[in-house]
Amino acid sequence: MRNKLAVLFGVTLMLVCFAPAGLGQSSGRVEFISLESAEPVLSGLRDALPPDLKAAGPPNDTQWSAWVQLKDREVRNRLIRGEEDTLVNLLRFGVTFTKEYRIDDEFLVRYGQSSLVNSFAENRANDLIHAWMAPNPSEGLIEMRIFVEKHGHSLKTARERTETKQYLLDSLARLGDEYLKYKSQPKDERRYRMFQDRGISLDTNLWPDYLLDSAFRSMLEKGMLKPGGVRRIAVVGPGLDFANKEAGNDFYPPQTIQPFAVLDSLIRLGISSASTVELDTLDISENVNMHVARIRRAAAQGRSYILQLPWNTERPMSDEYRAHFVEYWQKLGDKIGQPVAPIPVPKAAASTRTRAVKVRPDIVTRVIPLDVNVVYQRLSWPADRAYDLVIGTNIFLYYGAFEQSLARANVTAMLRPGGFLVTNDKLPDKVPSELKDVMEVPVISSEQPLVQDFAFCYLRTN
Ligand SMILES: C[S@@+](CC[C@H](N)C(=O)[O-])C[C@H]1O[C@@H](n2cnc3c(N)ncnc32)[C@H](O)[C@@H]1O
Repeated sequence: MRNKLAVLFGVTLMLVCFAPAGLGQSSGRVEFISLESAEPVLSGLRDALPPDLKAAGPPNDTQWSAWVQLKDREVRNRLIRGEEDTLVNLLRFGVTFTKEYRIDDEFLVRYGQSSLVNSFAENRANDLIHAWMAPNPSEGLIEMRIFVEKHGHSLKTARERTETKQYLLDSLARLGDEYLKYKSQPKDERRYRMFQDRGISLDTNLWPDYLLDSAFRSMLEKGMLKPGGVRRIAVVGPGLDFANKEAGNDFYPPQTIQPFAVLDSLIRLGISSASTVELDTLDISENVNMHVARIRRAAAQGRSYILQLPWNTERPMSDEYRAHFVEYWQKLGDKIGQPVAPIPVPKAAASTRTRAVKVRPDIVTRVIPLDVNVVYQRLSWPADRAYDLVIGTNIFLYYGAFEQSLARANVTAMLRPGGFLVTNDKLPDKVPSELKDVMEVPVISSEQPLVQDFAFCYLRTN
């Protein structure tokens, strides 16, 4: 039994690798989690192991190494499905390539049954294909075209374009089915179930950044975070904002907001200093990592990074939440850059409000992208490089309890004793961990219907 995994995967694979060149300059070693480090998770969750691991019996080092590397590849493959979801969001909501009606949730569930909705979808798909073929498509459109072509759909001949259109419409139908399935689940389980079964998307917006700002404020008030106490930060899964599932805005180029929003909040609150702070992004997405590497290169040549700061005014929000959020949003970025004129909001996206900020190059060069799968990998540093603070929002929900417990062990190993993890997902606590749940910060975003977000703060105790 023990040899099954080894036979299955053939060769002994290397345990240790290095962050790819061109990404982090001061990168530590990226290591897969060892069997020894995973042992508490394996025994703590003995009854809830992934089926293949359970069936093969207790692994030895070689088998474990092969298994985690296989799982790492499987997780990374989920990004493809996530990107396909972004493509469908673009098709449903995009305003730069079409004048056709948007396909909101109400229309989405009627796709395939209503000739009206079918015609909206068909027109949108045709317009998207035309825009891909027109001269100078936008950066976001180019990225989506590359994705489509990479997965075997061509735009060269009329026949191929028809096939590509069908692929777009089939993907829309798939999303409609998934949405109905999601809606039929009990409310509490929805978010959890939906994300574990699905592709991993790069979706992001300003709501989690506002939640983090509230959490940092509370942690400072309670003396958990100290003035000047945070120098080394990791943002796990910063995401890339383009055509998200909430509003699908496509009128500005793909951008990463969270690393800069976090820096701005921490500097504003005096928790970090603009002259010494360092922030690493830890992500499995090549798109995210390459984006951050590119803006760093530009910043090294003195170029600023312009961030658009859009938000959807139609999101259900209490007056109190809206007022506090707007106050946060109006100041956002002024500790790391200067306000500039935003890209104007097209009429068809009129529910979006925006402003923009030009982030100073000296701040952009503080951000280092590292290719790390936080579930199966960790960074090994000299002790003085360990993080004071790790952030992870809308990432752990993509994983089950076993994977989340591995991630918890990996984050613990990357934090210094006394350092914090702040996340909006409550992590399972069945496995003994040095990362203790020390505070929950609730933020009510809407009273009718009641929507409450939480920031969960974990402290590495020793
Ligand atoms: C939905 S986005 C969240 C973006 C942002 N944190 C937010 O809350 O808006 C998820 C991000 O996590 C990254 N991600 C997912 N699984 C990961 C893993 N195991 N290790 C590192 N990054 C991961 C994705 O590539 C993506 O950038």
